[in-house]
Amino acid sequence: RKLFKNANIYTPVDYGRPAAGEAQTVLNHFPHGAIIVEDGLIKAVGNEPELFAGVEKSCAGSCDVHMEIDCAGKCLIPGFVDPHTHMCFAERREGEFEMRIGGTPYLEILGKGGGILSSVRAVADSGEEKLYAVTLKNVLSALKFGTTTVEIKSGYGLDTQNELKMLNVIDKVARTTPLDVVATFLGAHAVPPEYRNDKDGFIDLVIREMLPAVKAQGVAMFCDIFCEKGVFTIEQGRRLLKAARKLGFGTKIHADEVHDLGGAALAAEISSISADHLLAASDENMEKMAAAGVVATLLPATAYSLRKPYARARKMIETNLPVALATDCNPGSSFTESMPFIIGLAVLNMEMTPAEALTAATLNSAYAIDMASRVGSLDVGKQADFLLLDGKSPAVLAYHAGVSPVSSVYKLGEKIV
Ligand code: NIG
Ligand code: FE
Repeated sequence: RKLFKNANIYTPVDYGRPAAGEAQTVLNHFPHGAIIVEDGLIKAVGNEPELFAGVEKSCAGSCDVHMEIDCAGKCLIPGFVDPHTHMCFAERREGEFEMRIGGTPYLEILGKGGGILSSVRAVADSGEEKLYAVTLKNVLSALKFGTTTVEIKSGYGLDTQNELKMLNVIDKVARTTPLDVVATFLGAHAVPPEYRNDKDGFIDLVIREMLPAVKAQGVAMFCDIFCEKGVFTIEQGRRLLKAARKLGFGTKIHADEVHDLGGAALAAEISSISADHLLAASDENMEKMAAAGVVATLLPATAYSLRKPYARARKMIETNLPVALATDCNPGSSFTESMPFIIGLAVLNMEMTPAEALTAATLNSAYAIDMASRVGSLDVGKQADFLLLDGKSPAVLAYHAGVSPVSSVYKLGEKIV
C-alpha cells in the first residue's frame, strides 16, 4: 500500500463510455488530492480529508500504509495513452523529409516506391534484433514524455513472414518494458510493387494467408487498413475488416487522411472501434460515426508534418463524436513520440480546450484501443498509471512548448521516470 499525498489532481471522468461533447469533458479536480495504491491499482482517490475519513471507515483502523510519497503540490494526471503509432520500424526517412519540405507531396513519394515502401524494404533487410532495438528506443522515449500505454502497428512487412516478425518484436517490447502495449495488424498499409495492378489480389492474400497466421500468433488485437487514393479503396477496406471481424479482431481504419473517400462512413457502417486521421472527413460522415459510437482518433502531428489543414476537432465535439489524440509516430508522416507536443497542437491549432485535449489523450484514447477498463483515468480499480507535471494545471502541457513538462512517470504505482 502506498499513499500519494499533497497532489493537485486532474482526471477525466469515466462514464463507462468515451467522453463525447462539451458536457462530458469536464475534469475532476482535487486540489488537495491523494491517491492510495494497492498492488499497483488505485484503491482510493480524492481530496485528502474526505479520502482519509473514507478509508479509515472502510478498513476499521487496519490500514497500513507502507510508503508515503509527497507530491509537493504538483499537478497529477493519468498517464498518456497513445492509441495510434507505427513505432516499430527499422530506419528513419530523413532524406524523404527533406524532399517533402522541398515541395514533393507525401503520396507522390509513396507512388514512386518511396515512403512506406522504403520502410518496408528496411524492415525486410533487418533482423528482429535491430527492429527491436529501434522500437525499444522509440517506446522508452515515449515513456519519458508520459506515455504509459501505447498501441503499435505492424504494416512495414506487407508479407506474412515480415508482418509476423514485426508483431513478434512488438510483443517482445510489451514483455520487456513497463508500458502496456497493444498491437495492431496493418498488413494492408501499402500496395507491394508486385501487386501494383492487382490490389484485390493483395487483399485476398491478406485475408487468406496473413489474417489466419496473425490470429494463430496471438499478438495483435486489432486489424487496420490504409484507405486512400492510390492505396486501398473503401470496398477493399470493407472486405478485409469484415474478414478480420469474423476472426475476432477489433477493427480500425486510416480514414480520410488526404482525400474524403468515405472511410469515416465505413467505420460507422461496420462499428469500428476507431477511425483515425479524418482530416478530410465530411460533416455527414462525422454524424454517422457519432451515431455508431466510433472514436475519432486525431493525429495533429501528421497534419503539422504534412502541412495540411488540421482535423475539425471542434466540429466533431459539437457533433458529440468522442475525440482521441495520438502521435501517429512513424518515420514518414509524423516523427514524434511526444504526447505533450500533440496536446499543444490540439489546444493551439485545433481549438480544443486543455480539458478536452487531456481527456482525448487519456480516457478517450484508452477507449480507442479497448483499454479503458484498466487505464485512462484515475478511478478506483484502474491501474495507478500517472504523471507529475511541472505546472499548476494540465494547460502547462500546451503552454510550455517544445519541452516536456512531465517530471515523473508512475506505472502501477512504481516510479519509472
Ligand atoms: O498514419 N497513412 C499511412 N500510414 C502512416 C504513415 C506511415 C509512413 O509514412 O510510414 C500514417 O500517417
Ligand atoms: Fe498511421
